[in-house]
Amino acid sequence: MAGNKTFTMIKPDAVKAGHIGAILAKINEAGFRIVAMKLTKLSTEKAGEFYEVHKERPFYGELVDFMSSGPIVAAVLEKDNAVEDFRTLIGATNPAEAAPGTIRALFAKSIGENAVHGADSDENAAREASFHFAATEMF
Ligand code: PPS
Repeated sequence: MAGNKTFTMIKPDAVKAGHIGAILAKINEAGFRIVAMKLTKLSTEKAGEFYEVHKERPFYGELVDFMSSGPIVAAVLEKDNAVEDFRTLIGATNPAEAAPGTIRALFAKSIGENAVHGADSDENAAREASFHFAATEMF
């Protein structure tokens, strides 16, 4: 059965462009409840650790540099079928392929600077949430 939590980050491009409020509004309108949230900045080491699963991919260095380049918003969200519904809300990784009205279609610049992250499985959502938040910070 699908779980009811997912993990997201509003990435440095979208924070820098002033899109935090608009993106959170889309998330609220889609029926997600915010369980945990913070404005933070990843060190290069922490970004490398978070994206370790992509270590062998050609864009790994670029992804780590970008994700540690400025502040991000990290959040845990709750809703039935959270992981799948959130991936639908954000749209395809490449904004050129993202469905109209999705967060990436509206706010992403490129496949690298694509405004938001969404966990791709219940297992990764739990791992990513506990990477950023202590149990006492999730409500
Ligand atoms: S996904 O979401 O895992 O299915 O997407 P995937 O295509 O596998 O990409 C994984 C993450 O890598 C980022 N990415 C890139 N960064 C820089 N350059 C290029 N070319 C590139 N391609 C993919 C992509 O935004 C995904 O980041 P997250 O934070 O997981 O969304």
